[in-house]
Amino acid sequence: MTKKPTLTSTSGAPYPTNKTSKTAGARGQLLVEDHQLLEKLAHQNRERIPERVVHAKGWGLQGTFTVTKDITEYTCAKLFQEVGKQTEVLSRWSTVAGERGAADAERDVRGFSLKFYTEDGNWDMVGNNTPVFFMRDAYKFPDFIRTQKRHPMTNMRSPEAMFDFWAGVPESVHQVTILMSDRGIPRSPAHMNGYGSHTFSMWNKDGVRHWVKFHFKTQQGHDWLSDDKAAEIIGQTRESYQEELWNMVTQGNFPKWTMYIQVMKEEDADKTDFNPFDLTKVWPHEDFPLIEVGELVMDTIPQNYFQMVENAAYNVNNVVPGIGFSPDKMLQARIFSYADAHRYRLGTHYEALPANAPKNANVQHYHKDGAMRFFTNDFGNPDAYYEPNQYDGPVADETAAEPPLRIDADAIIARHEQEEAEIDYVQPRALYRDVMNDEERDRLHKNMAGGMAPVSESVKERWLAVLKKVHPDYEAGVRKALEAGNHGDPSLPVTDDTPIKAAE
Ligand code: NDP
Ligand code: HEM
Repeated sequence: MTKKPTLTSTSGAPYPTNKTSKTAGARGQLLVEDHQLLEKLAHQNRERIPERVVHAKGWGLQGTFTVTKDITEYTCAKLFQEVGKQTEVLSRWSTVAGERGAADAERDVRGFSLKFYTEDGNWDMVGNNTPVFFMRDAYKFPDFIRTQKRHPMTNMRSPEAMFDFWAGVPESVHQVTILMSDRGIPRSPAHMNGYGSHTFSMWNKDGVRHWVKFHFKTQQGHDWLSDDKAAEIIGQTRESYQEELWNMVTQGNFPKWTMYIQVMKEEDADKTDFNPFDLTKVWPHEDFPLIEVGELVMDTIPQNYFQMVENAAYNVNNVVPGIGFSPDKMLQARIFSYADAHRYRLGTHYEALPANAPKNANVQHYHKDGAMRFFTNDFGNPDAYYEPNQYDGPVADETAAEPPLRIDADAIIARHEQEEAEIDYVQPRALYRDVMNDEERDRLHKNMAGGMAPVSESVKERWLAVLKKVHPDYEAGVRKALEAGNHGDPSLPVTDDTPIKAAE
């Protein structure tokens, strides 16, 4: 029999015991010099880190992306340079609103994050399972998230707040329609698509820029849960997604997606009837067909969930030469939020943690020291600790610069707010009228009515008025389902017209 390893303190000294405190005699007090016990208790107090402010509940796998079609016409990004080229990927899927212990099968948008460990550093695709979002301006994001979280007094989720907000932000109706459709509760992450949602850019070796959208289409097929089925599953297990991913991977049934891009010429951005940088809009497939790029196969369960999934820090800033941003205001705002969140949640050197450290790029920078600087402080060249220097320290590479972007507008104090307009209803109308069939519309009506049932009459009417602008049948269908009481999610709290007031 092999000898078991010796249990040690964090500084490596053998632990004489791991079950009995050092006391003053057999019946006496604990001696404070039992530093190994103190160490054990102190470590327990520090086991939790802040959960993500959004997308706290998540599931992750590791795998590989393989290029199947040549898109070098559009991008010089190294990961796409050859058909057959493979890149390691870390995925994390998530729900948006629930806390870290929330049940998996809740109706919510799902996050769809991919970290590609390329030779030019990590490319993070931090998307959702929906191609659009609830709003087009970041000023509205913190308020929106507040309506998804708990009411300050009841400490419960508040449908009243959700629908009140959506009724006041009618451009949300496209995303809310998807959320209340079958796709609002995917059976598992394997059974949903991923979308970059925003418009991004790509540029090729000649410096020609195109605007692009990223799509990852499930090869498992879409599968979804009704509210009733989801409630039944949650009654049995809160971890249905983790279990399904675990079972799929351990049985060799690896989840797969096909990656596509949609492409728009840089100069064509002014020619569409909708703003292609508006996150509440898709690009119609007929005008911007899907172009196949590659295949994503997620075949490995991370050895340690905390280290690889909880510590994963996805960041829209993590782009690589050949992939860039676009003028989408929401995307621009996200450029601030993610690294800021990571510094708070994981600390200054979050990028050096195993989940985030570039696996295939050589990291060289002049950032020094700081708390928990556990990795090399000088990259093997102690004289090169400032720039410029004559000691062969790292220098910038101009070839990594993206091509210039022409901007021809004035920054003005009256911001460029896009007011609600008929164009906001065109795409949700197409989804409702042309993409969904009768059964899907019927379920949409009932799901929406179920979500709205507990809210005040005034909020109901304001939201029904928005639905009517999408399509009269939409409003009529939801109203009928509300009147029939043909719906109902027992987990939602009941509210009435009277706002809750704190006791005097
Ligand atoms: P298409 O008929 O070419 O595409 C319709 C798309 O709708 C398909 O990609 C399909 O996804 C997707 N879809 C089907 N059911 C739902 C649902 N319940 N929720 C969300 N998406 C769904 O038409 P268009 O490109 O002209 O788009 C029409 C409408 O479809 C858009 O206004 C938008 O609401 C929606 N849509 C469009 C997308 C796009 O990028 N153009 C992407 C996703 C949705 P799948 O192929 O995987 O079944
Ligand atoms: C997570 C902010 C919009 C997808 C987060 C986090 C923040 C944040 C602070 C937590 C990050 C962390 O602690 O690791 C914002 C802001 C937005 C915005 C300010 C708008 C202005 C979006 C949009 C999408 C999206 C439009 C999708 C298209 C995600 C995903 C995660 C996330 C998938 C979880 C990443 C992971 O798996 O770790 N967001 N977000 N967010 N966001 Fe956003």
